[in-house]
Amino acid sequence: MKVIVTKNYDELSKVAANEMANIIRNNPKAILGLATGGSPVGMYKELIKMNQLGEIDFSKVTTVNLDEYVGLSGDHPQSYRYFMNNTLFNHINIDKNNTYVPNGLAENIEEECKNYDAKIAELGGTDVQLLGIGNNGHIAFNEPDTSLVSGTHLTGLTDDTIKANARFFDTIDEVPKTALTMGLGGIMKSKKIIVIASGESKAEAVKGMVSGKISTNMPASMLQMHRDVVVIVDEDAAKLL
Ligand code: PGA
Repeated sequence: MKVIVTKNYDELSKVAANEMANIIRNNPKAILGLATGGSPVGMYKELIKMNQLGEIDFSKVTTVNLDEYVGLSGDHPQSYRYFMNNTLFNHINIDKNNTYVPNGLAENIEEECKNYDAKIAELGGTDVQLLGIGNNGHIAFNEPDTSLVSGTHLTGLTDDTIKANARFFDTIDEVPKTALTMGLGGIMKSKKIIVIASGESKAEAVKGMVSGKISTNMPASMLQMHRDVVVIVDEDAAKLL
C-alpha cells in the first residue's frame, strides 16, 4: 500500500482528483469505480473544475458505483444515484448511459446483483476503484462480520453505519436498513484502488486497514492483499499510523 498523508481535506481532495485525472488522461475510455459519502465530495468538485477548464474529458468514460440503498428510487434525494447525478454527473460531460449504480428498487434483487457483476465483467472490470472507509472499517457496505461475500449482494447495515449515515436524513428512522453492495471480491478485482479518509473519527479504521491483521472484522484490511492500493488520508485520519 502506498500511503499519502495530506495536511487537510482540501489537499486530500486535490491529490485524489489528480490521481483520477491522470487515469482518465492515460485512458480516455477508463472504467472508473466510484463511491458516495462525504469523503469524495471535495474530489468530485475538483474533477468538475478540471472538466470545465477542459483539462479532462469524460465523454468516453464509464463509471460503476459501489452500492445503493434498497427501497430508494434514483430520484430520492438520499439515493446514491441521486447523489452521483447531483454531485458529479450533472456537471461534467459524461454520457449518463455510461454510468452504472445498482437499482435499489429492483424487483428481483438476486437477478439485479448477478446482472451488475456481469455488466462489470463485460466492461472488462474497473481500472480504478475509489473507496471511502467507515468508522468501523467497512468498505462499500461490506460490514464487519464473521464471513464476507465476494460478489454484489444484498446486505444489512450495522447500527454503527445507520448512525453514521443518519446525518444525511431528517431522522434516523428514515435510513434504509438494507443495501445492495459490491462484494469484497468485486472490489479486489479492480486494477487499482484509491482509498480516501479524512478526520480523526477514521483514524482507528485507517490504522486497521494499513497495518492491522487481516480479518473479516476489519473488511478494509483485505486491501493489504491487493497489489496497487493508494491510501490518501489527511493528518487527522493518519494520526495512529
Ligand atoms: P463517508 O463514508 O465518506 O461519508 O465518511 C465512508 C463510508 O462509510 O464508506
